[in-house]
Amino acid sequence: MATLAIVGTQWGDEGKGKIVDILSEKADYIVRFQGGNNAGHTVVVNGTKYVLHLLPSGILHDGKKCVLGNGMVIDLESLWNEVEFIRRVGKNPEGRIFVSERAHVIFPYHKELDAASEKLKGDGSIGTTLKGIGPAYRDKAGRVGIRIADLKDEETFKEKLRWNLREKELTLKHVYNYPVSFNFDEVYSHTMKVYEKVADYVCDTVSLLNRAIDNGERVLFEGAQATLLDIDVGTYPFVTSSNSSALGIPAGTGVSPKKIEKIYGIAKAYTTRVGGGPFPTELKDSVGELLRARGHEYGSTTGRPRRCGWLDLFAVKFSVMVNNLDGVVITKLDVLDAFDEIKVCVGYELDGEVIDRFPSTAKELSRVKPIYETLPGWKTETTHVKRWEDLPKEAQNFIRFVEDYLGVPVPMVSTGPQRDETITCCELW
Ligand code: IMP
Repeated sequence: MATLAIVGTQWGDEGKGKIVDILSEKADYIVRFQGGNNAGHTVVVNGTKYVLHLLPSGILHDGKKCVLGNGMVIDLESLWNEVEFIRRVGKNPEGRIFVSERAHVIFPYHKELDAASEKLKGDGSIGTTLKGIGPAYRDKAGRVGIRIADLKDEETFKEKLRWNLREKELTLKHVYNYPVSFNFDEVYSHTMKVYEKVADYVCDTVSLLNRAIDNGERVLFEGAQATLLDIDVGTYPFVTSSNSSALGIPAGTGVSPKKIEKIYGIAKAYTTRVGGGPFPTELKDSVGELLRARGHEYGSTTGRPRRCGWLDLFAVKFSVMVNNLDGVVITKLDVLDAFDEIKVCVGYELDGEVIDRFPSTAKELSRVKPIYETLPGWKTETTHVKRWEDLPKEAQNFIRFVEDYLGVPVPMVSTGPQRDETITCCELW
């Protein structure tokens, strides 16, 4: 197989970074197709923890080519810092980073608009990462965004920047009553200074990827965030501003959906969410606290404590449908080692009636009552387990239950942060 995609099935932080890192070994290209440095992909290699925000996790594998697709919004300074970080950890980034000239640039005013908008929303705030993601995508959809290709031409860039700064200044002052701290000269010269450092990585990634696929090279698409944070099919408005399900791959890369051969989802053995929005299986008690403590559930981009709850299979099944998943990898199984009983949500009740579809509105989702199935815990340490037969019977039954309910296989189970703390039931490539 030549193309494979990995996407989150919940609200992000499912441990995609580790799985992508493992799959990268057999890939030629690893491709991000949406989002920006709001993502935080944690990968542990030989005991060292790496957190990547923009570069695909595949960058940690020498020689692999990494693409930042046209569907991304890119903070150039963050990109440069990550390239420097890669060098500092002894990896050579040269000749293997390809940034789409069609991707949009995040400017300082996007971050200010993000903060101003969140402040105005007050209690109804989304809890964004404040990286300027939403405002950058707003400019893209509003056709006033500045793309990386625009930076190549001084006059085009100056003209677009002047217009944007004027519009943003008016918006911040008169809509948000928010202080403006940028001026043309500073933003222009700073952007150009950073752009010159990364300019060699910028190219036409649409042609690059299509040619690679047509030549039979192996391309791995790496989703950031997850299906329930997708701007269209996620729990709107408590979502990110891009198509973070597999639906975003064609638009975010210029690769036809007909060329994506297999799509796998990642689900944590329980559920977490950062930021605001409905979360039917959330546990605000000592069980939720134990999940947070055992799973080290603190945001890798913002450091915020993540909200924790039982595995919501009804929501994951929605992701299986939307992405047409070929399988679901289960991560962090070992976090459940401490529990006598494990609850799994297998349906929702809305206003006293059992429903057969995942609600489309946040209001409905906030009213649903989860229907639980209780499974016996295993109370045995599974951290570091590498073979299916070494899992306790109850843990095997938990995985089988997930497969039966979702109707797709669980091809891999992750039992710890290291590459080799993984049970591989069947190869994904
Ligand atoms: P934004 O992407 O910064 O606009 O944030 C929108 C929502 O997506 C907020 O609830 C964030 O907490 C959430 N979000 C963004 N990136 C991630 C991620 O990588 N993992 C989990 N949640 C995320």
